[in-house]
Amino acid sequence: MDSLNVVQSFLPLYEPRADFIIIARYIVIVLSFLFVPYISVLFGSVVFSLATSTKGHFEEKPLLSRFSEEVMNMLGNNLVAGITLALLPLITMLIAFSHLMYGSVIEAGIGQYLLITTVLILAGIIASYIYTKSFKNRDDAIWMHTALGLGAAGTLTAGIFAFVSSVTILLWPEKWDQIQTIIPLTYDWNMIARFKLFLFAALAFTGAAILFYFFRWDGGKEEEMDAEYSELVRNFGGGTTLGFSILSALMFLWFMVTLPYPAKSYGVYFLGVAVLFFLMLTVLRSYGVLSSRSTASATSIFVFLLGFFLMTFVTESAARGNSLLYQNYSLDKIAEKVALDIEIARSEKFRGVEATFELGEEIYAAKCAACHRFDVKLVGPPHLEVVPKYNGDLEALKQYIYQPVKVDDSYPAMPSQGLKPFEAESAAIYIMKRVEEMQQNQ
Ligand code: HEC
Repeated sequence: MDSLNVVQSFLPLYEPRADFIIIARYIVIVLSFLFVPYISVLFGSVVFSLATSTKGHFEEKPLLSRFSEEVMNMLGNNLVAGITLALLPLITMLIAFSHLMYGSVIEAGIGQYLLITTVLILAGIIASYIYTKSFKNRDDAIWMHTALGLGAAGTLTAGIFAFVSSVTILLWPEKWDQIQTIIPLTYDWNMIARFKLFLFAALAFTGAAILFYFFRWDGGKEEEMDAEYSELVRNFGGGTTLGFSILSALMFLWFMVTLPYPAKSYGVYFLGVAVLFFLMLTVLRSYGVLSSRSTASATSIFVFLLGFFLMTFVTESAARGNSLLYQNYSLDKIAEKVALDIEIARSEKFRGVEATFELGEEIYAAKCAACHRFDVKLVGPPHLEVVPKYNGDLEALKQYIYQPVKVDDSYPAMPSQGLKPFEAESAAIYIMKRVEEMQQNQ
């Protein structure tokens, strides 16, 4: 795992906070709600723009050419939005996930995955920006224009793939051990379903955004559009929203069916029904746009799809919570451990790795006193009975506390307390000294 720890050196902010771990789940939902819709529209506008631009050029359809350029200018041409809505949430999510997975084997790995995602998404945003600029001399350099569009779409697809594999891997505790390097972005049906769901939902949402921005936002652009162009935009927006919402619903079902066993629960299915409900409303309304030739429902379609996104993140968060619990990785427990670690790290005198009596006293109170007393039997044996047999051998006592082994059949085995060597040594110093004192006083 050493190569993965690199990520933490990128994060000067990195310091687990117990309370932050608890709210990290909600933060992930909120950040996804900024990041995913934004990247969806960027990806969708590049794909739709590229398709209509090349078709418009080679089949000499000026309306399509106009549409392809307007889509990019309206939806995909804003570096500031890219940074605030995509990059900042991603970087914050990276920190949130590192907290959420604190203490698990993929704590560092997940950070690394999201770092790769961030780099790819940044490249995708820049590539889309350059692609938008290439409309200026598209007719002289159509191949260059196409190549730039393909480059932007490809980079964004790679970024989305990295993002999806980062978040779906969290549903699969049994795979965490296998993640030793950054290369195997795990490949399985659940992940493929989620990836396709992302792409299809992105295209559906872009269709809805086209309807919304051309016809509703700020009064719409209808004054600048003649009837023919208006119909083209309406049919394109309505048709893509309808088709890709249906595909999204199928992919979502596939995603639910292929969820790993630990992630499933009635609660997750229940939330899943809400996701499908929003998609169903979208399908009905976008069908209405095509059949009634009216864009009156453009705003509600846009809102339904935002509802779909939000419910999808809530469902995923619930599934993730299930997986973490199943892994016996209760957030409360982790929060307790984090709180203690921080207490130790914060208090000046315990900085560093030196074992001390004071640190031992602190650790003893936090981690050992629940099961031990010096003079009476609790869950574990009284120290006054067992410690003298170590005969002052601090190293042996430290080793036992560091990695307890079975000793006495009349007791259960002592669970490992997950101490670092210098912490185990501190506890050993403390116990040995106290036992000596007590024996002298007797
Ligand atoms: C969950 C309860 C529990 C906690 C917490 C716990 N112990 Fe124990 N401990 C036991 C039990 C049970 C035994 C007896 C194990 C056996 O005989 O195999 C034991 C045995 C011991 C022994 C005797 C070993 C021997 O050679 O006979 C020492 C010393 C000890 N614990 C120290 C500690 C210290 C230090 C901590 C805190 C860092 C700690 N324990 C935390 C349950 C606990």
